[in-house]
Amino acid sequence: LLNHCYCKKFILGTSRLKSHGRISISTTMQHKNNKQESTHETEIVKRRNQACRSLLIQVFSSKSYNDLHNYCLQFGDISSMHHYHINNQQNYILVEFKDIMSIKDIMSSASFTKGDSTPVKSSILWFRKGQITTSQKNNQKKVSLFVENGCTSPTEKETAKLLYNAKSISGQIIILYEMIKLTDLEARLRFHTAHHLEQYFSKLFENMKVLPFGSSINGFGRKRCDLDLVLHNATSRLVFHSKFMHNSDRHETKEFLGILANTMQYFIPGILSVRRILEARVPIIKFCYNYTQTECDLSATNMTAIYMTELLNLYGEMDWRIRPLVIAIRAWAKSQELTSDVPGQWITNFPITLLVLFFLQQKKILPSLKILKFYSTRDDVRYAENGIDCTFLRDINKLPPDYKYRINQDSLETLLFDFFEYYSTFDFQTYGICIREGVQIRKPSRSALHITNPLETTLNVSKNVSLYELNRIISKLHDAIYVLETTDKFENNSWGIMTLLKVNNDNGHLKKSNTTKGQKKNIEEYLEDSYENSYEISDKFEVSE
Ligand code: CTP
Ligand code: MG
Repeated sequence: LLNHCYCKKFILGTSRLKSHGRISISTTMQHKNNKQESTHETEIVKRRNQACRSLLIQVFSSKSYNDLHNYCLQFGDISSMHHYHINNQQNYILVEFKDIMSIKDIMSSASFTKGDSTPVKSSILWFRKGQITTSQKNNQKKVSLFVENGCTSPTEKETAKLLYNAKSISGQIIILYEMIKLTDLEARLRFHTAHHLEQYFSKLFENMKVLPFGSSINGFGRKRCDLDLVLHNATSRLVFHSKFMHNSDRHETKEFLGILANTMQYFIPGILSVRRILEARVPIIKFCYNYTQTECDLSATNMTAIYMTELLNLYGEMDWRIRPLVIAIRAWAKSQELTSDVPGQWITNFPITLLVLFFLQQKKILPSLKILKFYSTRDDVRYAENGIDCTFLRDINKLPPDYKYRINQDSLETLLFDFFEYYSTFDFQTYGICIREGVQIRKPSRSALHITNPLETTLNVSKNVSLYELNRIISKLHDAIYVLETTDKFENNSWGIMTLLKVNNDNGHLKKSNTTKGQKKNIEEYLEDSYENSYEISDKFEVSE
């Protein structure tokens, strides 16, 4: 086994290994010990733990599985093995061990190649061709290999056929959701990516955690969505003397991220096309992670974004209809080019998600954030580093029955239609959307679209959206209503959601519809994400009005 390393003429410190295995919630989230963990936090701890017990091993092909399996068994019991490939060229097996000690052992047995001048051990390795390992000291039963092509989506034919044959639009929404939501392997790889970075950063900064947030973990993400990562410093009562940095000082944050970007570019294997977006309102480092071909954004400490992810996840958990509906509407917005990979004066997925959640509040399917705050307990108290109160009830079972058992039992089809209708007639000129209050508010700003940031109510998350773009949204909402009311299954080889997403079923094949230049043409293109986007500015976080 060989460590993946950069072969550059740089020498970086020593290669001390540090155990990342025992991660307690207090190192992941900033709140008191002995607290009851929310399900979201528990899930994060579980995933981080899983990443610590996993190695990503590049292999010649999936046929290397037997050999690798036997090799790994020498170091301890295996929990799971997942295979994926990128463009049929790079093959990887993600091996999860039962015990963190196995990782330590296997890593101390691995070597570096000649010419590696940044020999830092990390949990990404190569399995070289060599003598087949047969002798097994370990009698563990063989763990089967999960084969998943983590980097491609269902074929055109499968997608179109399934959608076409669905019995109802509600059925189509469920199928779409099941096909495009993140898989278990993708979730594992996203946490593994964070862990990989953390292993390198920990050589420089002992206490630094790298946490995923955003659509990768809020339940609204689709396959191959970007990976949002945030740096986080765990705190405890006893604090080491160290060079002090103001998190809130923009200049210092920019300098710090600049140094980190250089480190990543030159020393961390798998990091490609590093872009420093340091002048943005929230400075970020963008890069492509080669082992999974994922576009990543890394920002400095930002606990509000982490808690926002938790809030969205909580809303998604409250009713089985939420996630399929949000994903379908996000897919529709993308296919209509209302959203784009490039930031600008258009809406993005995060405010679209808030629009859907607000609509569901009006339908009495979701409670307002005010209600979640009202029923919060001592265990739910959280403050972000800038003093923003991010306290809200984390355990939905503690909501009174009135809020738990929703009277509204509308189908997904009805909700989708009503969503289009609700916003096509919404008075955006006078009113803004407020998830916190759960009711529309008089617009406090002159922005075309006002969607209050639920956790920081002075901010408008859609401040960037121009009047032109808002009008385009409204016109597409009207089109959607028309499409749903008029498409005929037998004439167009496409109906319901398919027409909304511009999918055609022609003898089981997707047929590209004639669309204007630059328009996304079909679901295949929706599913197939572009990694080569050229962000120049980051519009991730808004500024105060
Ligand atoms: N966020 C926020 N305030 C904003 C924008 C973003 O708090 N104005 C937080 C939200 O938690 C959001 C996350 O940052 O989910 C990531 O932002 P972004 O990547 O823009 O949205 P995603 O929800 O991740 O959607 P996508 O799949 O398009 O990346
Ligand atoms: Mg994102």
